[in-house]
Amino acid sequence: MQVHVSNDAATSVATGALVVPVFAGGAVDGVAAEVDRVLGGAIADVLSGGEIAGKPNETSLIHAKDTPFKRVLVIGLGERDKLKPSAIAKYAGTAVRYLGKRGVKEIALALPDGLDATLAASFAAEGAVAAIIDTTLYRTEADKPVVTTGVTILNGSYDASAVESGAKRGSVIGEAVNAARTMALTPANDMTPTHLANRAKELAADAGLEFDVLDEARMLQLGMGSLLGVSRGSDEPATLSVMTYKGDPSSSETLAIVGKGLTFDSGGISIKPAENMHEMKYDMSGGAGVIGAMWAIGKLRPKVNVIGLVPSSENLPGHRAMKPGDVLKAMNGKTIEVINTDAEGRLILADALCYAKQLGATKIIDTATLTGACVVALGHAASGTMSNDDAFVERFLKIVADSGERYWRLPLYPDYEQQIKSDIADLKNTGGRAGGAETAGAFLKAFVGDTPWIHLDIAGTAYLDAESPFMAKGPTGTPVRAFVHIVEDLAKNGAPTNGVAKSAATAAV
Ligand code: BES
Ligand code: MN
Ligand code: ZN
Repeated sequence: MQVHVSNDAATSVATGALVVPVFAGGAVDGVAAEVDRVLGGAIADVLSGGEIAGKPNETSLIHAKDTPFKRVLVIGLGERDKLKPSAIAKYAGTAVRYLGKRGVKEIALALPDGLDATLAASFAAEGAVAAIIDTTLYRTEADKPVVTTGVTILNGSYDASAVESGAKRGSVIGEAVNAARTMALTPANDMTPTHLANRAKELAADAGLEFDVLDEARMLQLGMGSLLGVSRGSDEPATLSVMTYKGDPSSSETLAIVGKGLTFDSGGISIKPAENMHEMKYDMSGGAGVIGAMWAIGKLRPKVNVIGLVPSSENLPGHRAMKPGDVLKAMNGKTIEVINTDAEGRLILADALCYAKQLGATKIIDTATLTGACVVALGHAASGTMSNDDAFVERFLKIVADSGERYWRLPLYPDYEQQIKSDIADLKNTGGRAGGAETAGAFLKAFVGDTPWIHLDIAGTAYLDAESPFMAKGPTGTPVRAFVHIVEDLAKNGAPTNGVAKSAATAAV
């Protein structure tokens, strides 16, 4: 997708279709009103006639033969006073999918007034780019493709250079989202731990990042018995990719982002039911999100140090597989009784979290399709968010509030730590059905020590069953957007301020 920026007036732009926003309540104002004058009131008619009400992502196509823009696609943006910049990503994505499916190659996008210019343009570009990915990677007879190849963002009343820089940033984020989604779509017979590490290496090179990958011999030397325990059941060797971005060499602060790269989760000896097991190719979505985000960070070059770690393995019931009752030893010396081999994500993350600390991480955010319990708690509406540090997580939640992704905090009460105490070892890898997302979080917490840390459970948000007006069904690219937003904020505003009162979510009560 080519994203351009233009000073052309909406009323005179030559394109395949012009996209204009309208709001709930039916008032035609701003750029829609200008275009409506050229159309002789056709937009007002669409609204007053009840064809659309202006709700988010509603569409109505008006043909305008004798104009340079040929067609006008009117798209709803909801209530005007509730408009948030991230809505523009959905607006742009809806435009590209609607018009692309109808054979329109080039479109021009008018922005609503009253937003931050850079943000509006960034979301427009991101939404346009992320609207289209090839979800039929292995189909030999392709469906009719979505064909929009160029989107021109019209500056309108906004500052041209702000729109230009926003569009560049948004294109990078959109490309990063798509890279993560394509990795997730790739089936496990191709997307092995080695393949995932190779993608990380390629994208690191493309974005000017340092790259290292640990093989099983190095994992053994480092004492990563937890990660190695998971990979025992498979012939595919585990990998641990490390992508390093040094945006602020004079600083001793480093954020580590760590993503679960489980390329196929059969459950292992505690095998999963067959129904929907194929979806477990998506169990590397967190790792793909880290790789995509690191690529974007390398391209955007914020003034901050970030390392991306992706522990990767298959979880299979091979004849050498770990068994329920086995005890593993992680890199930090902690021993883990394996109660259920299907709780493998936390096992591969445990060693990666230890390694992140050894590499000098002063803050850590991990992400994983970790628990079905999180999907039960929050559905597909938000990612579970847990932390050992109130100031850090409150800042994170504020920064990502309008990223286009949703995060909702869950508690890490000491009770959950009790649930994962083992009779024979330090920890056990499951705490029973109750509080399944939180006991998983409590398990990870045992490997980060005092380092400020946030855990994002994306089991319900990494992929979706249904297509939306602005996105294909399948992988969503979550949490690439959140990672980019928090990293840029750390670059701009430094470490979070301390001294925020401990909330009830972590207080020992
Ligand atoms: N990868 C799964 C979690 C998952 C479930 C992701 C559904 C996406 C959709 C994870 O490895 C897993 O199997 N978790 C178990 C943990 C349990 C055994 C404590 C679960 O949630 O059932
Ligand atoms: Mn599992
Ligand atoms: Zn899993």
